[in-house]
Parts: sequence; C-alpha cells; structure tokens
Amino acid sequence: MKIWLTGANGQLGKEFQLLAKNSKFEWQFSNSTDCDITNFNLVESKLNEYEPNIIINCAAYTKVDLAEEEQEKCYLTNTKAVENLAKLCKKNNIALIHFSTDYVFDGSSESAYTENDKTNPLSVYGKSKQLGEEKILAIQPKGIVFRTSWVYSQFGHNFLKIMLRLGKEKEKLTVVNDQISTPTHAKDLAKAVLTCIEKGISENEIELIHFSNSGTASWYDFAKYIMKEASLNCEVSPIPTSEYPLPAPRPKFSLLSIDKFVKNVGYSPPYWKDAVKNCIKLLNKETQC
Ligand SMILES: NC(=O)c1ccc[n+]([C@@H]2O[C@H](COP(=O)([O-])OP(=O)(O)OC[C@H]3O[C@@H](n4cnc5c(N)ncnc54)[C@H](OP(=O)(O)O)[C@@H]3O)[C@@H](O)[C@H]2O)c1
Repeated sequence: MKIWLTGANGQLGKEFQLLAKNSKFEWQFSNSTDCDITNFNLVESKLNEYEPNIIINCAAYTKVDLAEEEQEKCYLTNTKAVENLAKLCKKNNIALIHFSTDYVFDGSSESAYTENDKTNPLSVYGKSKQLGEEKILAIQPKGIVFRTSWVYSQFGHNFLKIMLRLGKEKEKLTVVNDQISTPTHAKDLAKAVLTCIEKGISENEIELIHFSNSGTASWYDFAKYIMKEASLNCEVSPIPTSEYPLPAPRPKFSLLSIDKFVKNVGYSPPYWKDAVKNCIKLLNKETQC
C-alpha cells in the first residue's frame, strides 16, 4: 500500500511522519515547498511519479483570522486545490483522506453536531473548508473526510504551546470560556486515520466522519488544565468572547459527536485531559533530550 501525504510539515503531517516509521505502508511525504497543492500540474506529476493508493491531504490554509483578509489564497488552497485532488483521486481510483473542521458549524445547536447536521460557517476559513468538503462529496472518490476540532500537537503552532509559553512568562491570563468543543491531539487523529486505513474503511464510498478526543471543554478549561499538568503557577481567569474580539467569528458551540467514529471504527478516542497530559509529557521528553 502506497500513501502520499501532502502538507507534511504541519502539526498533523509531522505526527504522521512519526507514525510512518513503524508502519507497514510505503510513504511519500511532500511539504509546501516540494509540492504546493495549488500548482495543479505539479500535483499531477507527483501523482504520476508516486502512484499512491491513498492520498492523505494534510495541506491546508489554517490561519483562521488572516483568512478574512487573504480570502483568495484561503479558497484556492482549501476549496479549489481540494477539488483538484478529489478529481485526480476519482480518475485514478485513489482513496482520499481529507480533514475539515468544526468551524463549518455556526454553533447554534444545543447538542453535539453529527455528520448529518446542517453546516453554516461563520468565517472565511470555515466557508472554504465547507466548500472543500462539498466538492469531495460531489466528486465521490473513495475515502474519508474527517471533521475535527481544536487540534494541537508537540509540533507546530497551537494553543497548547502558546499557553505553555505564556504560563512561564505571565502570572495571570484571561481565556474565553463561552466557546465549547473538544481539544484534539493530532497524534490521536493520525492514529485514528491509520486504523481506518488498516481496517479498509478508507476504501469505502466517501463519507464524513467526526473525530476529536472524548469529552467537552471551553478554551478556559483547556488552558487551566494545561497550567495544572505543566505545574505552572499562572492564574487563568474566564472571560466572554466579547472581551477578546478576533477578526474571524468562531462558533460558540462546535462540539462534534464522535458516535459514528466509535461505532464504525470500534474504539473510543482518549479523554481530552489524558491526551493533553500525553502531549505535555512528550514535550518534556523533547526538552530533556
Ligand atoms: N489546527 C486546528 O485547530 C484544526 C482544527 C480543525 C481542523 N483542522 C484541519 O486539520 C488539517 C491539518 O491541520 P494542521 O493543524 O496540521 O495545520 P497546520 O499545522 O497549519 O499545517 C498545514 C500545512 O499545510 C501546508 N500548506 C499550506 N498551504 C499549502 C499548499 N498550498 N500546498 C501545500 N502545503 C500547504 C502548510 O505549510 P506552510 O506552513 O509552509 O504554509 C502546513 O505545513 C487541516 O485540514 C485543517 O484545516 C485543523
């Protein structure tokens, strides 16, 4: 089984690179320098060179606030380039694994969002990802579109690493407590994808599957728990989103129901606090090396 992974230097891409070391599959990794997914000729020539059975598309425009300004670049990467990948996969009978976001929802629900719930993104980033999903589902290659939420990892830039830095620099911090979802360790997401590939689920007709760690949190809960686990004495206080305005609106409630994943794939992802603990442990190990 040959797998081509795009966006290999992002936080999710790097988790796959780690897992690939102990995997039985044959991997090709490309990053934004080797293969810009918006360069359609290059994508096609890489595809002819690698001849993959599966493409895992970790490449994405993920700057949620900047996207409000850089709309064209955001849509080109998250919609147009994804449409192109889906067409190539369909034409060449390649399975496509792609990632989308909880930000496709508007947050007006009072219960966890299922794969069948109506999308209504509030931001340019959310809209570009929703259109990307729509293109894939219309073109119908084999594969899976995973929707996930609040991704962090020992790699790259993310909320957990920002909190660890601020926790060392500051005595006090305010964090919003009226946005609810679930933090997701990229390592657990990458493992979930590999399990789906091993079980042959990625060879099925294209479907949406929600994946996050288990449980529910606000950004404030997430920050408080990071401070506790990292033994940082920074005092975290809750504030409403109105006191921390950002260019891109976020859904107030974007909890993803992971029932379909649990039923189809056969296990419950780790509880979010255990996943945070694991990531901090890995970061500590890294600094000791
Ligand atoms: N991060 C989250 O909280 C979150 C939440 C929900 C869903 N997701 C989704 O999960 C997936 C993985 O996200 P992530 O957190 O790993 O993002 P990330 O760390 O920002 O990684 C994205 C990678 O894509 C690369 N990239 C950007 N434009 C590209 C292009 N045109 N061609 C090739 N590569 C390109 C980036 O390279 P450069 O850095 O060189 O530009 C970067 O290495 C994405 O689809 C994202 O939308 C993320």
